Amino acid sequence: MTMNKIIAVWGNPNSGKTTLSLKLALELEKMGKSVMIIMADAYTPGISAILPFIDTKDKSLGEVLSSVEVTQESILKKCISLEKHKNIVFMSYLHGENLRTYADYGKDRTLDLFILLRHLADHIIVDCSSCFPHDLLTRTALELSDKVVRLTTPDLKAVSFLDALMPLLDERKFGAEHHLKVLSNVKPQYPKDIVANRYGGIGMALPYTSEVEKQHLEARLLEDLTDKNSQFYNRAVKNLIKEILGEEPKNTEKEDKLNKSKLRKIGFFRKEVKE
Ligand SMILES: Nc1ncnc2c1ncn2[C@@H]1O[C@H](COP(=O)(O)OP(=O)(O)OP(=O)(O)O)[C@@H](O)[C@H]1O
Ligand SMILES: [Mg+2]
Repeated sequence: MTMNKIIAVWGNPNSGKTTLSLKLALELEKMGKSVMIIMADAYTPGISAILPFIDTKDKSLGEVLSSVEVTQESILKKCISLEKHKNIVFMSYLHGENLRTYADYGKDRTLDLFILLRHLADHIIVDCSSCFPHDLLTRTALELSDKVVRLTTPDLKAVSFLDALMPLLDERKFGAEHHLKVLSNVKPQYPKDIVANRYGGIGMALPYTSEVEKQHLEARLLEDLTDKNSQFYNRAVKNLIKEILGEEPKNTEKEDKLNKSKLRKIGFFRKEVKE
C-alpha cells in the first residue's frame, strides 16, 4: 500500500498550486513513481496554461464527469500523456471550455472518479481550484484526499481569502486540522512570521525564485530548476515529498503485479511496465 496516494494541493488564488503540483509530480517521477495530475479548475482550464503546445483533442475531464457512468476506460481515454514524461499523465478541462460546456454532474461521479483513480497510478495529485464552494470536484478532493497541502502566500489577500473560506472546511470530514500548511512564493520582505503565526504555525516554506516565475511564463514548468538560486526551492519540494510520504511501506508483491498488468494494458507509464 502506498501512503498518501491522493494528494490535493489547495490554497489561496495565485499561491502556486499548479506550479507545486507539477514540481511534486516531477520529483515523484524521479523516484520511479507514476503520477496522474488532475487539474480540477473548470474556469481556467489548467492544461492550456501550462502545456499549450500538446495535443489535447477530445480529452476533456469534463466529458468524463458528465458521462452516464465513470469507468476506468472512460478515464483512460481522456488522459493526456506526454512524450518526455512517460510516468506523468494529466486530466484537465480544455482550452475554451468551462463548467457549462458539459452536463451537470453530481457527487457520485466525483466519488467514482477518485475511487477508480486510486488504482491507476502510484500517486494522484489534484491541482485544486481555490474557490471550492463552486467546484464539486475540488470539494470532493479536499474531503477524500489522503493528504491536503494547503498553500498560503504571506500577504493580506491570502489572509482575507483563508479567513473567509476556512470556516467552510470546519466539518470533520474535511480534516482541515491535518492539512500540511506551507507558505508559498515567499519573498524576503514578506511578513512570513506574522502570517505563519496567524495560522497556528507553518513549518514549511517554498521560497520565491525567479526561475520558477520564468518557467511558468514560458510554459516550461516540467523542466528541472537548475539555477543556484532555485536550490532552496528544490530542497523544499524534496522535504515536502518526504513529509507527504512519511515512512512509506513497500507495495506488496500482489499489488505490484496487479498494478503492472493494468498499466501494461493501458500502455501508460511505459518505464514502470518494462521493469
Ligand atoms: N516559488 C515561486 N517562486 C516564484 N514564483 C512563483 C513561485 N510559486 C508560484 N509562483 C508564481 O506565482 C504565480 C501563480 O502560480 P500558479 O499558477 O502555480 O498558482 P495557482 O495557485 O495555481 O494559481 P490559480 O489560483 O490561478 O490557479 C505564477 O506567476 C508563478 O510563476
Ligand atoms: Mg492553478
